[in-house]
Amino acid sequence: MKSVILFETKTGTSRKCVEIIQNNNNISEVYKVSSFTGDLKNYKNIILVSPIYMGQINKQIVKHIQSGNQNMQLVLVGTNTKPYNETIHNTFDKSTLERIKITHVGGAYNFDKLNFLQKFIIKKMTGISETTDLLKYDVLKSITC
Ligand SMILES: Cc1cc2nc3c(=O)[nH]c(=O)nc-3n(C[C@H](O)[C@H](O)[C@H](O)COP(=O)(O)O)c2cc1C
Repeated sequence: MKSVILFETKTGTSRKCVEIIQNNNNISEVYKVSSFTGDLKNYKNIILVSPIYMGQINKQIVKHIQSGNQNMQLVLVGTNTKPYNETIHNTFDKSTLERIKITHVGGAYNFDKLNFLQKFIIKKMTGISETTDLLKYDVLKSITC
């Protein structure tokens, strides 16, 4: 049966993660979640890739996970590791967490893609003021379906 990747991205890091997962697993069907019109019931292997912004996972990706009953893999792209645990427990109930596999792959700050306010927030919160890649490539490469 078929495999699919649905993703969201604002500054391109999640797209980069998708390309690595796609190439390593030979997956031909890849859609931005907002443009996916199919039915996930038709797929055996489902990988959803979402960035975390302000502690939130993309709402459409969350909706797909909550409305399905299959096993799915959720790949979270975010630079913080501590709030990541909070994020998943605030977003999903216990039975959903038992059904899905979650992998946190780190993230990146792409300063050329951020607006003034976002740059200000990142600099204030982290001290980082230039493009910085904090992706965990070894974890990304270990994702299989
Ligand atoms: C305004 C802003 C808020 C963010 N909030 C979080 C957060 O709450 N938790 C986290 O882990 N990462 C956070 N990040 C980091 C992003 O998740 C990281 O930059 C990610 O790589 C973005 O993915 P994308 O390029 O696919 O949009 C934030 C980044 C920005 C610019």
